Amino acid sequence: MRGHFCPWKRRERMKQGELRRALLVATLLCVFLFVYLYWQQTADETPHLLYTYKHLYVPFRSAPAEQAPQWTWQCINQRCERQRIKSDVGDVASLATCSMLCGSTQLWPQPTGPVTLGSKAVTFNHRLLDFYSKTTGPANELLLAAFSIVNDSISGLVQNSDYIHQKTDITKFKIIVSILDATTVKLKLNTDESYTITLKPHGTELVGNITAKTFFGARHGLETLSQLIWWDEYHEGGTLKILKGATVQDNPMFAYRGLMVDTARNFMSMESLKRTIVGMASVKLNVFHWHVSDSQSFPLVLPNLPQLAKHGAYAPDLVYKPEEVKEMVEFAKVRGVRVIIEVDTPAHAGNGWTFGQDEGLGELAVCVNERPWSLYCGEPPCGQLNPDNPNVYDVLEKLYKDLISLTDENEIFHMGGDEVNLECWAQHLQKNSNYYNYTDLHDLWGDFTLKALNRLTAANGGKKVPHVIVWSSNLSKRPYITKYLDKENVVVQSWGASQWPDTPDLVSDGYKIIVSHVDAWYLDCGFGRWRETGDAACDPYRPWQTVYNHRPWQQLHLNKKQVMGGEVCLWSEQLEEGSLDPRLWPRAAAFAERVWTDPQLDMSTYTILEDVYTRLNTQRDRLVSKGIAAEALWPGWCKQNPGMCL
Ligand SMILES: *[C@@H]1O[C@H](CO)[C@@H](O)[C@H](O)[C@H]1NC(C)=O
Ligand SMILES: *[C@@H]1O[C@H](CO)[C@@H](O)[C@H](O)[C@H]1NC(C)=O
Ligand SMILES: *[C@@H]1O[C@H](CO)[C@@H](O)[C@H](O)[C@H]1NC(C)=O
Ligand SMILES: *[C@@H]1O[C@H](CO)[C@@H](O)[C@H](O)[C@H]1NC(C)=O
Repeated sequence: MRGHFCPWKRRERMKQGELRRALLVATLLCVFLFVYLYWQQTADETPHLLYTYKHLYVPFRSAPAEQAPQWTWQCINQRCERQRIKSDVGDVASLATCSMLCGSTQLWPQPTGPVTLGSKAVTFNHRLLDFYSKTTGPANELLLAAFSIVNDSISGLVQNSDYIHQKTDITKFKIIVSILDATTVKLKLNTDESYTITLKPHGTELVGNITAKTFFGARHGLETLSQLIWWDEYHEGGTLKILKGATVQDNPMFAYRGLMVDTARNFMSMESLKRTIVGMASVKLNVFHWHVSDSQSFPLVLPNLPQLAKHGAYAPDLVYKPEEVKEMVEFAKVRGVRVIIEVDTPAHAGNGWTFGQDEGLGELAVCVNERPWSLYCGEPPCGQLNPDNPNVYDVLEKLYKDLISLTDENEIFHMGGDEVNLECWAQHLQKNSNYYNYTDLHDLWGDFTLKALNRLTAANGGKKVPHVIVWSSNLSKRPYITKYLDKENVVVQSWGASQWPDTPDLVSDGYKIIVSHVDAWYLDCGFGRWRETGDAACDPYRPWQTVYNHRPWQQLHLNKKQVMGGEVCLWSEQLEEGSLDPRLWPRAAAFAERVWTDPQLDMSTYTILEDVYTRLNTQRDRLVSKGIAAEALWPGWCKQNPGMCL
C-alpha cells in the first residue's frame, strides 16, 4: 500500500483556488435550484430518489455512420466472418447482430446456471418498454429505482433518435419482476442474489419475466436482460434489437465481490466514483471498498470529527461531504452494491490526525511527516496513531460511529490494520512513555487492536460487528494472530503475493479470508516508480488475462468455504480520476467473472478460450456505452474478425 504527494500539483491548485471557489459556489447554487425545482415539480407524485450521474466519456463514433456500410458479417461455424459488401442489395448483418446470434452468449459475467438463447432477434424501440413490479413492501421502492436505471441504460444505446418512427416487430416489451422476499433491502453476505429470466413472445408482445428471492437478485436479472439488447446500426438507419427468446438461471459463486479505490494518495471526484459503481453494477460486483484516507490526506468530512478533513484534506474543495457520501450509498444500493469506508489505522494515518494538539488532546498520531521516511514507514509521508494516548480511542469510537451511520453498514467493517512500523512506536515510546514495558512491540499493536475492536462494538450500540476485516500483516501471522484476532469475528484480507505462506496459513488456522493477491489483483501496478528511493512499487502490469486466470482456491488448494470472496485493489499514488476508468476497466470486469462464475482453469496451459475474448470485448463496449473510458482489449481488426487474433 504505497503513497505519493505531489507538491507541484498543490501549487497549481492554490493559484486556481479563487476561480475554483467561485465556480463551486455557482455550481452549488445551480444544484440547489435544480433540486428545489425538481422537488416542487414532483411534490405530489410518489417520492422518487434523484440520482445525478454524468457521462465522462463520449465514444468517438456516437453518431450513425453517414455512408453505406462496408462490411457484413456471416455466422460460419459459430464465428462471425467479416465480408465486404459487394452490392447494395441483399441481407447485410452488423457485427453486433451477428455476434448476438452466433454461438456465444455475449453475457458477462457468464451465468452459472443453464442458459438457452433464441437464434432470432426482434426490433423494438425504447418507448415500447413497460415495467411491472409484482412486489410490494420496501423492496418495491428499490425495484422502481432499478427500473428507471435499466430504462435509461437501454435508451442510452440509441444512436439515432429518429428510429422511433420505424415499424417494429413487437408492439410492447413487458418486463415483469417478481421478488419473493419483499423485506430484504440491505445486502448482506447471506443475501440470495440468484434470479431466473424467461423471455418469450406473447402474441405481438415480448415478455421478459424475472423472478428472484430478493431485490438484489432481481437487479442482477435486469442487468442480464439488458445484455440481450443491442443497437443494430445497419437496420434502416439503426434500431434496438433483442433476442426473441431466452431462459437464464444464475447465482454467484462468491458472496463478497469487491473493488477497492484509494482516494487518499490522489483525490477522485464523487462523479468518478459513481461512474465506477455503474461499471461494478454492470458486471455484478457488489462491494465498493473505499480506502478514503491514508497518511497523505484525509478527504472525508465526518459529521462529528470535521477536524480530520480540516487538517488533512489537500484543499477545502477536495473533500467528500457527509450528504454526498449518503447519496452515494443510495446510488450504490439501487445498483446492488454496498459501500464500505475504510479509515486505515493505526498505520497509514498521519495528515489529518494532527488536530489533537490544537484541541488539547495531545499527540493523536506520531512520526507524522517524519524523515528520513524509510526508517518509519513504507512510503512517504509517515504517520501512525499513538497507542499511548487514551484520547486516541475516544476519537476512534466517534469515527467508527460516523462511518457506520454514513454507510448504514454494520455487518462488515474494515479496520485497515496493515503495515505498522514498530520502529516508529519504539522511538516515540522511548521518548515519551512512562511504561515502556513491552518486550515485543507486536503486543502493543495487538493491544491497540483489541482496544479499537472494543470501541467499534461500543460505536455499534454495544453489538459486535459480525465481520471485521483487517488487511493481512505481521499481526495476522502466527503467533500473534490467535492471540489478538478472533476467527469468529475477524476476516483477513490477504494482499501479499500468492506464493507467500500467508493465505494458506490463514485458512488452515481457521480464518475467513478475502483474497486480494498483489501479483494478480492489484490494478495500479506496472507504471514504474514515483520516487527515487526504494523499489518500483509493484511492477509489472497485471494484464486482464492474469487477473482472469487467478484462481487461488484451486492453485493453493484452499477450502472454499473459508473464502468469502475476492477484491481487486486500485491504489492511487500514480493516478487521478483522468486515468481511473482505463486503469480499472476492462480488468475489473475480468475479475468479476472470476468471482461470479469462477470458470474452470486449466493449470497446465492457462489457455483462455476464444469465447472469453469475444464476450469480454462485448462487455468492454457496453462499459464504453455507459460513459466509462475502458481500455481497448486489442486492435479494432481483431474485434471485427473474431477468433483471428488468437
Ligand atoms: C423510461 O424512459 C422514458 C423516456 O425514454 C420515460 O418516458 C419513461 O417514463 C421511463 N420509464 C421508467 C419506468 O422509468
Ligand atoms: C413469471 O415467472 C413466474 C415464476 O416462474 C411464474 O409464476 C409466472 O407465471 C410467470 N409470468 C409470466 C407472465 O410468464
Ligand atoms: C514483519 O516481521 C518480520 C520479522 O519479524 C520483519 O522482518 C518485517 O519487516 C515485518 N514486516 C513489517 C511490514 O513490519
Ligand atoms: C504494560 O504496562 C501497562 C500499564 O502498567 C499495562 O496495562 C500493560 O498490560 C503492560 N503490558 C505488558 C505487555 O506487560
